[in-house]
Amino acid sequence: MKKRKEIPKETLKRLPLYLRCLNELILKGQTTLSSKDLATILPMNSAKIRKDLSYFGNFGKRGVGYELKSLIVNIREILNLDQTWRLALVGVGDIGSALLSYPGFNQGCFQIELAFDDDPDLIGSRVAGKKIRDSKDITPLVKEFETQIGIIAVPAETARDIADRLIRGGVTGIINFAPEVLDHNEEIKCTQIDIETELSKLTYYVDET
Ligand code: NAI
Repeated sequence: MKKRKEIPKETLKRLPLYLRCLNELILKGQTTLSSKDLATILPMNSAKIRKDLSYFGNFGKRGVGYELKSLIVNIREILNLDQTWRLALVGVGDIGSALLSYPGFNQGCFQIELAFDDDPDLIGSRVAGKKIRDSKDITPLVKEFETQIGIIAVPAETARDIADRLIRGGVTGIINFAPEVLDHNEEIKCTQIDIETELSKLTYYVDET
């Protein structure tokens, strides 16, 4: 395992946002950028951005700013995006099908290698070109494909069982869309995606008037 640099959690949370923004700029042909420019685009406090970026080397040059390419390489390295991650999706309903069709997957470092469902009408068919496999084979196939991350998009009542089977196959990270808290040991990183929670955070700030 790579030696990880110690970076505060709050900074880590912002890195994917910086990365997305930097990638867009480089596509537009930009080569350098100041923390002030980034602060205007995001928009965020430029001192905070400078502090965040200082954790992985002082690439900013006075009057020139940051060299975009090296900044992107460094952020990708920190986020472990300098490798391909193999994903297994379980549940090919509305959310699962949308994820399989999402062009952001299977081009970059995230590849959905396996897709599972337990619906006999779906098993053996293809969704967005991906073969749907029987979810009773999750553990052996995840082992065989050395899948590292699982995405759970099944009804809440089966989410724990699916998580157990993914973990037995060897996944160490799970993204869970089902409204069911998964409490596994600390070595398994689990992220809960919940639009209602996000909306509730938003409504705190949205002014009714
Ligand atoms: P859906 O009903 O369209 O799809 C669920 C799929 O899971 C179906 O294809 C079904 O055959 C499959 N399935 C059921 N049991 C299975 C098992 N044991 N093994 C393999 N596949 C199994 O549901 P939808 O709308 O895609 O939602 C999926 C999950 O996400 C649900 O738990 C839902 O409550 C949740 N959800 C989460 C949201 C969020 O913000 N995180 C928003 C909307 C839904």
